[in-house]
Amino acid sequence: MKKWELVEMDWRKNSCCCDVEEIVRLERRIFPKHESLSESLIRELKKRNSGLIFAKRGDEIAGYAMYSLNSSLCASITKLAVKEEYRGQGLGEALLNAAIQKCRTRKIQRVCLHVDPLRTPAVSLYNKLGFQIDHLIEGYYSSDRNAYRMYLDFDV
Ligand SMILES: CC(C)(COP(=O)(O)OP(=O)(O)OC[C@H]1O[C@@H](n2cnc3c(N)ncnc32)[C@H](O)[C@@H]1OP(=O)(O)O)[C@@H](O)C(=O)NCCC(=O)NCCS
Repeated sequence: MKKWELVEMDWRKNSCCCDVEEIVRLERRIFPKHESLSESLIRELKKRNSGLIFAKRGDEIAGYAMYSLNSSLCASITKLAVKEEYRGQGLGEALLNAAIQKCRTRKIQRVCLHVDPLRTPAVSLYNKLGFQIDHLIEGYYSSDRNAYRMYLDFDV
């Protein structure tokens, strides 16, 4: 079977609308409403400082990572998700690594993200790639859902 290919979203390509629609569908399926960017995902993506990398095989998309370059020194990972049936095969790690590399090429010094501490697989993946917990933000996603702010510093 063909391998998953990691693709960077390119708004000039005709296929991009179908890809975005599929990613919005995945976003709605994977994240609860208060954590989902589905309504604003396209708006976010069209910002000049945002990027999206996704895993594609034929017409199917298995997962995606979104990042945003907040300033010349700091970037954020704003989304990371893999379709349930393709988890545990290294795709999340590959997508996160690709997004981090994109940030690195822009001479960024720190990458930050927020994650619900209850999302154990995600927290474990971030730890594996060197992210550290900065602090806990209570009520970040909703009144009863908190977030870790995590960061990864590049050696300069
Ligand atoms: C988090 C997520 C993207 C991981 O994707 P994945 O493709 O399954 O992850 P990988 O197969 O690349 O695993 C890489 C590492 O993640 C961690 N991990 C993955 N699944 C895990 C699990 N079920 N339990 C604990 N750690 C897990 C491990 O550290 C793993 O490394 P290892 O294989 O050496 O143990 C996926 O579980 C997901 O989409 N979750 C729902 C959305 C989400 O929580 N997104 C993050 C919100 S900020």
